[in-house]
Amino acid sequence: MPDLNDATRGRVLYGGDYNPEQWPESVWHDDIRLMRRAGVTTVTVGVFSWARLEPRPGARDFDWLDRVLDLLHEGGIEVCLATPTASPPPWMGSRHPETLPRDESGTVVWYGSRNQFCASSPVYRDHALRITEDLADRYGGHPGLRMWHVGNEYGTHCWCDETARHFRRWLRTRYGGLDALNEAWGTAFWSQRYDSWEEIIPPRRAQYLINPGQALDFRRFTSDALLECFTAERDALAARTPHIPVTTNFHPLFIGQDGWAWAAEEDVVSVDLYPDPKDPHAAAYGALVQDLTRSQAGGPWVLMEQAAGPVNWRGVNHPKPHGLMRLWSLQAVARGADAVCFFQWRQSRQGGEKFHSGMVPHAGEHSRTFARVGELGAELRELAPVVGTDVPARAAILHDWHSWWATVQDGRPSSLVSCERLLRAWHQALWERNLTTDFAHPHADLTDYALVAVPQLYLLTDEALDNLAAYVRGGGTLVCGFFTGVADEDDRVRPGGVDRRLRGLLGIRTVHEWWPLDEGEALTAEGAWLGAFHGTLWSEDLEPSTAEPVARIKGGELDGRPAVIRNAYGTGTAWYVSTLPEPTALRALLGRAAEEAGLAPALPGLPEGVEAVWRGPYLFLLNHGRTPAVVPLPSAPSGRTDLLTGRAHHTSVRLDRFAVMVLAPPESLA
Ligand code: GLA
Repeated sequence: MPDLNDATRGRVLYGGDYNPEQWPESVWHDDIRLMRRAGVTTVTVGVFSWARLEPRPGARDFDWLDRVLDLLHEGGIEVCLATPTASPPPWMGSRHPETLPRDESGTVVWYGSRNQFCASSPVYRDHALRITEDLADRYGGHPGLRMWHVGNEYGTHCWCDETARHFRRWLRTRYGGLDALNEAWGTAFWSQRYDSWEEIIPPRRAQYLINPGQALDFRRFTSDALLECFTAERDALAARTPHIPVTTNFHPLFIGQDGWAWAAEEDVVSVDLYPDPKDPHAAAYGALVQDLTRSQAGGPWVLMEQAAGPVNWRGVNHPKPHGLMRLWSLQAVARGADAVCFFQWRQSRQGGEKFHSGMVPHAGEHSRTFARVGELGAELRELAPVVGTDVPARAAILHDWHSWWATVQDGRPSSLVSCERLLRAWHQALWERNLTTDFAHPHADLTDYALVAVPQLYLLTDEALDNLAAYVRGGGTLVCGFFTGVADEDDRVRPGGVDRRLRGLLGIRTVHEWWPLDEGEALTAEGAWLGAFHGTLWSEDLEPSTAEPVARIKGGELDGRPAVIRNAYGTGTAWYVSTLPEPTALRALLGRAAEEAGLAPALPGLPEGVEAVWRGPYLFLLNHGRTPAVVPLPSAPSGRTDLLTGRAHHTSVRLDRFAVMVLAPPESLA
């Protein structure tokens, strides 16, 4: 199977989405000139060019693309060629309205934007496959082709009748018979029992709460239905060009796809990433998305899209202060990216995204943005030695999209508790301590991790529960957040409210009641070494069995109940945290658990705001702070050389605001 190495071939790929169909041909020549100037290696062509390639059903207009690919090739720019299937042309919706998605109320979602297709529509699938096959037949042998990019940010939903038929087929495969489905969905509740398959529909708009089993399965189904669209195109491409890797770009932390299942079907995993320059936690968020993407990829990955400046889809769209675009690009490389790309090459003059920045902005080649794009291209060339290396991590956060799906339904103890909020808080606490963290699926082999953190896994399968128990029994350290292990795979509450095995592992006799907290409400808790801290979102009337309390709630109804407990189990240790501790306390707590588990940060003694990550033998230092920082270096007899400047450093380095160094041991430069 081809992989990312077949595209990188020892270089960090650099480029972006290139949409020449939006420009007269005279501009194309200028594009190539500027790409060369900027150090661009690779561009993604054709993401939304279906209407140009197939102006009417069955017609083909490929000549312009022939010329584009040849021009790029002559200019030394390689191509990641996209199938255009994320945006069907108007003729499809007009002639085949059944390809258009319908929302929960049955309202048609029209063309005139993009992504207007129903993943279950045989007509859409058939047209998508044919244009894909024709593209592969025509360009499979093109010398500039390095990668295929299928669709774009898969994530549409549809509730139409075709989807209903497809959903039923999917359910038959999952359950075999209706009895099993009725049992799994708990249809004895509210007279929801199904007597025939034809009665089953997607969870459409209804009077009151939707059946949670039905809603959860519909999310599973939708991810699978979209994945079928991807794999059909992938297979057509792979059959024609078995040596060219295939990818599709994920939205960051996007709830609509089971990222683990999708990544397993890709040769190369890629993601789009747009942190808000005004968000004080943007760097932590970026690190989270990068860690998750690397973990799903099982190695190096592609940053398929980021912005050179502002996006256009926030209320207020902020440009990036000088140095931030470079800092975030190199952060991605530090955390495993072997490609740094943008949306998009040249800023559009028309269309919905004309105020979204580009590598070549409206201000043109003499702009500061383009100058910085060129500087970054030159620097990435110096990072060739890093390509293909691993990011070693001995801590893992467990994440399962199915559990997330189960938590987004109404009728729960608190609508304030969100999986994303908890993931971000816990990951940030580890990131701020410079403990490099992977993500892992709850069924994954955890034995190599010294620390496993579970911010929240409301839904845990039997297999996952056994996995967690075996991990701790065998000497692992588990830190588990509240409202975990509550439901089984069908979203049925486990006897006792929290699974018996998990309670045994955590040393909990009973969780008598959940006491969620209001927005703005906080509890106070206190522990010997944790001191006093606030907790938000959640609290519990928790009664331990074998666990020792680490911190107790002070005041209020739950005065004296444990907020944090710690339990010896087998040869390992399991912690349980029944609230969301304020950031300093969560950091202290996870830091202590890591320390006890023998885990050290990437570098000791780092000043606040400085991120350190090892990639193979290379030490990345990134100053996210707004003031200069001095970083003591680990001893190396002949010092370390910054790959970006070629300068040697010995005992310590000074990093200005937003500065980055990539320090190499001398032997790696021999
Ligand atoms: C996504 C899409 C791009 C573009 C950008 C804008 O990542 O894939 O086509 O719309 O957003 O930020």
